[in-house]
Amino acid sequence: MFAYTTEHLRMPLSSPRIRESPRDVKPEGFPMGAPRHGQLKYALQYAVLAPSTHNSQPWLFRVTDESVFLFADRSRGLPAIDPEDRCMLMSCGAALQNLTYALDALGFRYRVSRFPDLSDPDLLARVDVKARSRRDIDTSALENIIARRTVAPQNAVLSPSVEAVENVQRAIEKGGASMTLIRPDDIDIVLQIVDEHLADAPILAKEEAVWRHPNRARSRDGIPGGAQQQSSSIFMDPAGAVFGLLATHGDRMSSWMRGGAALECGLIAATREGLAVSLSSTPLHLSHVRKQIGVALSVDGAPQIFLRLAGSNSSPGPATPRRPLVDVMIHPGFSA
Ligand SMILES: Cc1cc2nc3c(=O)[nH]c(=O)nc-3n(C[C@H](O)[C@H](O)[C@H](O)COP(=O)(O)O)c2cc1C
Repeated sequence: MFAYTTEHLRMPLSSPRIRESPRDVKPEGFPMGAPRHGQLKYALQYAVLAPSTHNSQPWLFRVTDESVFLFADRSRGLPAIDPEDRCMLMSCGAALQNLTYALDALGFRYRVSRFPDLSDPDLLARVDVKARSRRDIDTSALENIIARRTVAPQNAVLSPSVEAVENVQRAIEKGGASMTLIRPDDIDIVLQIVDEHLADAPILAKEEAVWRHPNRARSRDGIPGGAQQQSSSIFMDPAGAVFGLLATHGDRMSSWMRGGAALECGLIAATREGLAVSLSSTPLHLSHVRKQIGVALSVDGAPQIFLRLAGSNSSPGPATPRRPLVDVMIHPGFSA
């Protein structure tokens, strides 16, 4: 049950401090002397910088002094493009990965329990946080989380080095999934399958349009103008790019969480390598298409998302917005 604390009397919910954008988080801004829940709230700002399908940010958090609970926010689901909540779970997995990256960078010890309460399928993870084991902060790790973007293909046309791509592959494997590189000859096979399943899908376009906000500067979710890409178009401009298909062991809720975490490991590694990555998850929203693509490309595991990796000389365009923490916290009983 929710109970107001004395903190609330001092700091109403409309306080600009808890309404501020997580995009403004600073690696040097860790509140060293704050109570633990204030420190965990700081770490959450990195969690919510994770990628999410259509930037829907389908997560909710509850923070106590000892733990962070991650829930799926099913109300932010995309019924047409994500009928199984697969991408939702991948997005939440990416947020969990970012949270653990931030805790590592801040020197906290922690333990992650996935699906800790099987009677509540929305409770995806509990992260029990122990004392900090060191006082220094890995600011460059935090900067990488802030710098990560998914970008429009037109911003990235240079060939990535073999070494950089292998580093991304290794990071994905370390995260618990795999990335199969798609040979140029196989791109036509993928495109054929994509076309076959997206040719007559106006409902997908409609749902996508709901999350596109070309001229809404105040929106805290969705995709602003300049950061937009066509979900089926990452293969349209193959110049210089390398394509990969991320696959998981199994194809159920826990696999999707793991896949999202591994995806974020790859994206952060790509950021470190200076690579630009764009993503495409349709028509993989249909389980039989995931199977079809897996067979066509001889992928070991369940395909989850396509990646396009390339070098870029231009800036990635405007960052996508994020909802303030107060909008993603279930229990507002925290202080800054
Ligand atoms: C599971 C998942 C699926 C995604 N699918 C697509 C996609 O099909 N097409 C696309 O353009 N972007 C896709 N994205 C990228 C999101 O649009 C992007 O993460 C979001 O707009 C936030 O922007 P950012 O990654 O730059 O922070 C996907 C991201 C995730 C995590």
